[in-house]
Amino acid sequence: MNEEQRLASQQVKQPQQEKDYSKYFEKVFTAPSLKDAKKRGKEEVKYHKDFDIEEKFLHMGEGRKFYIRTYGCQMNEHDTEVMAGIFMQLGYTSTEQIEEADVVLLNTCAIREGAENKVFGELGFLLKYKRQNPEMLIGVCGCMSQEESVVNRILKQYQHVDMVFGTHNIHRLPHILNEAYMSKEMVVEVWSKEGDVIENLPKKRLGSIKAWVNIMYGCDKFCTYCIVPYTRGKERSRRPEEIIQEVRELAAQGYKEIMLLGQNVNAYGKDFEDITYRLGDLMDAIRTIDIPRVRFTTSHPRDFDDHLIEILAKGGNLVEHIHLPVQSGSNEILKIMARKYTREHFLQLVEKIKTAIPNVALTTDIIVGYPNETEEQFQETLDLYREVGFEMAFTYIYSPREGTPAAKMTDNVPDEVKKERLHRLNHVVAEYSAKALKELEGQIVEVLVEGSSKRRDDVLAGYTRKNRLVNFKADPKYIGHRVLVKVTEAKSHSLLGEFVGKVKEEVELIK
Ligand code: 5AD
Ligand code: SF4
Repeated sequence: MNEEQRLASQQVKQPQQEKDYSKYFEKVFTAPSLKDAKKRGKEEVKYHKDFDIEEKFLHMGEGRKFYIRTYGCQMNEHDTEVMAGIFMQLGYTSTEQIEEADVVLLNTCAIREGAENKVFGELGFLLKYKRQNPEMLIGVCGCMSQEESVVNRILKQYQHVDMVFGTHNIHRLPHILNEAYMSKEMVVEVWSKEGDVIENLPKKRLGSIKAWVNIMYGCDKFCTYCIVPYTRGKERSRRPEEIIQEVRELAAQGYKEIMLLGQNVNAYGKDFEDITYRLGDLMDAIRTIDIPRVRFTTSHPRDFDDHLIEILAKGGNLVEHIHLPVQSGSNEILKIMARKYTREHFLQLVEKIKTAIPNVALTTDIIVGYPNETEEQFQETLDLYREVGFEMAFTYIYSPREGTPAAKMTDNVPDEVKKERLHRLNHVVAEYSAKALKELEGQIVEVLVEGSSKRRDDVLAGYTRKNRLVNFKADPKYIGHRVLVKVTEAKSHSLLGEFVGKVKEEVELIK
């Protein structure tokens, strides 16, 4: 235990005496350690095939409601689906109204300071509800829980929080809830050593058209700005047969689009010791499953191999859209980011992809204002953006994350300069996005209809294979199906169109 953890643990009042119920659970106070999270042990990852809820917990949620607020990436959204599935197996029902919830969970994101501040703001706000209903349990989970500084701050300043648990132990939710009900102390269970791979966790999927499927957990890249390798642990791939089975089941249930998830999906399979099986192999297998669209996120340029490109070029249900975060166009910055590729390598990769998949849409992530980034280095990012012709980008100002190497670097770039660079970059992003949309005017695109517009039932909205939002008038019976739409007008972030007809494979399915 380091000094900080020791101080943190002293702030938790230990139970005065051993209570009888202690035989039902272990006392939980396991605090995180970023130092431990950095270690990449040699121990084998264990695969647990069957998640089971102990009998004694099965009625815990009867007459109780849960509410989960999710921050951050799709991985977190999917974790929320798993936790919702566990709650439901425990007998809870879900609610959209915080005030009527018996358990409120904040599934948090640690990627930037802004994301964390939102959570602390929300925690302060929740005090009001806790005062109205002292029985309400408030929990913090997700990536922020994996940070020592966050757990210490919660222990000191947010004592109305009842539970803190991490990303590696969401399967322990029944135990953690049980202990929170029994104990007056804050229950803290955060494992810094990455978890095992647990299959058959229940899931309450939020949609019926698109579904997320985890293919791997964690990241070993340790880009110098990034907290993810600490909060999500080492790379662990799910076994292909489990993934394929899950996708098959989703296809049978009528899902139309699958998003394969991982922090660095191109590293899929690197950790297998008994088989040689990588993302290209997995995509090749999933290609043959009868599900209309398959995507994956997020890619790392360094691990993007030729076999994968060759498989993606086969098209079919593998969509022609690749999200390929570049982060910077400057070799010096890429080097201090520890991205382990150069601008030239990235451009070569883009060239290969474009040659194999000529109509591909590439999108990216970019960080501006890295410590000591010069105007010339920023210009190289703008040049690279133009050279690739990305169709869209998520752009960020660098945010120091405690515990990462970049947070220790001195930085001579003033905040105003960072903001101004972001502004200039966003201008270029908007220009290229508008151009890509404009090119679609007059064309017929395939749209997977997700719902009707908030204001008008007869205006439907859906996404193209390249993930472009399209609005058009048609009968709501097309919701959940793929239709053909002629693009009539490009707006700044979306398209307007006219309904043309059904996609032939779905004719039979639309009543
Ligand atoms: N500051 C700013 N942006 C970051 N990202 C990751 N870490 C940071 C950070 N410390 C961005 C990267 C990544 C995306 C998910 O978030 O661009 O690809
Ligand atoms: Fe973070 Fe992605 Fe780099 Fe991994 S590959 S350290 S998740 S930016």
